Amino acid sequence: MKLWMAGLGLVAMMGAAPIMDAVAQSNLGAVVTERREGLKAVGDNMTAIAAVARAGGDPRGTVERIAAVQAFFPTMGARFPAGTQQGAPGIDTRALPAIWTDRAGFDAALAAMGPRLAALREAAASGNVANFQAAVQATGAACGDCHRPYRAR
Ligand code: HEC
Repeated sequence: MKLWMAGLGLVAMMGAAPIMDAVAQSNLGAVVTERREGLKAVGDNMTAIAAVARAGGDPRGTVERIAAVQAFFPTMGARFPAGTQQGAPGIDTRALPAIWTDRAGFDAALAAMGPRLAALREAAASGNVANFQAAVQATGAACGDCHRPYRAR
């Protein structure tokens, strides 16, 4: 009985490494799913905000959407752990390996979003259509500044 249990323990130990790898990999898969869902929501919000800008509508109604986008970006850095780049096993992503080989550049592109979104929110809350339209443009440009080097097409 004791011997049988010891044998079971040994099997468990031998099996532990690949099982842990599989657990780690499925956790990474969940991280990627959540970051893509978060970015999709950011995209949907920005599309709606840009539509108001294009139509010359009252920007004050977009403040809530802007706040939602603002809430996402501080969480973004932690959503790109090692092993979640395009080409990693079991990972479905457009995140380019450049994020990890040039993390400083990625972090700078991420940091640039904060002031752009703060300015966008201020312009929206002010109700000034021209300022809002300019801020929407500037924000969209900051999205592109990260997508061009760090996201696959
Ligand atoms: C610091 C870099 C960075 C910034 C800033 C950034 N993005 Fe992205 N975005 C990415 C990366 C990397 C991906 C790919 C993520 C993946 O596939 O895992 C992505 C993916 C997306 C997606 C696709 C999500 C999906 O369905 O898979 C949308 C939509 C998007 N971003 C919108 C935006 C908008 C709008 C902004 C600006 C308000 C923005 N992003 C700012 C890096 C950034």
